[in-house]
Amino acid sequence: MNAYPASPPTRNYDSLVNIYDLLARCWSGGAILAARLWCAERISAEERVMVVGPGTGADAACMAQTGARLLLIDHSSRMLETTARRCRSEGNTTPQQIHGDFRTQKDLELQNSVVAPFFLNIFCSEEALQVMRQLRDSIGPEGRILISDFSAPPRNFIARLAMEIWHGIPMAFFYLWTGNAWHGVHDIPKMAEQSGLEITARKKFAILKWGPRWIEALELRQSSSL
Ligand SMILES: C[S@@+](CC[C@H](N)C(=O)[O-])C[C@H]1O[C@@H](n2cnc3c(N)ncnc32)[C@H](O)[C@@H]1O
Repeated sequence: MNAYPASPPTRNYDSLVNIYDLLARCWSGGAILAARLWCAERISAEERVMVVGPGTGADAACMAQTGARLLLIDHSSRMLETTARRCRSEGNTTPQQIHGDFRTQKDLELQNSVVAPFFLNIFCSEEALQVMRQLRDSIGPEGRILISDFSAPPRNFIARLAMEIWHGIPMAFFYLWTGNAWHGVHDIPKMAEQSGLEITARKKFAILKWGPRWIEALELRQSSSL
């Protein structure tokens, strides 16, 4: 069994708090936000929800408005504060907060839902699988995981190459600036299957509304065949 966590925590996300959403909007033409909100809109009132790496928290604020009981975990104090402020002002509720590395959290209460927006992409494929298993272990038997992230790489060589280039440009920036891992596009549905999870709902989002559908949101539950 490989060490976990294997990579050091990310750095410098604090410095991106005012430009992160703009970068994401320009790069994906709104697809990243749409996928995050698709996940947020599936949450209902009174659910116990953990949001891992909420960033600036548009989706967490939406869940707070719905009346969910939120636990936010982020390694960046400024990202965490920004999300918590939005939950207070837009959702009129104060979420629980943990400032730290999700991978080192132990003995957290089991959640009804765990939301991980563009979190797995921080890690190399081996560690992302370990993070996926930790997400799985954070939900109760009836719970679910909501993930928004890059969709699995296409089979067609040309399409795959184009997607790897599109994914690689921001990855290079985050690799240098925040210490994210350098890796190819993850196959998250396969990681879910390897973690004993099944897809119970999914939606793909097109870049700039008309482009390739390279962003995907997934709802995952414990596999019924286990
Ligand atoms: C790529 S951003 C995603 C932000 C937002 N969820 C989104 O979808 O736009 C990753 C977020 O995870 C946080 N983060 C990075 N590594 C983390 C870790 N090990 N534990 C908890 N949060 C982490 C960063 O501070 C940042 O807020």
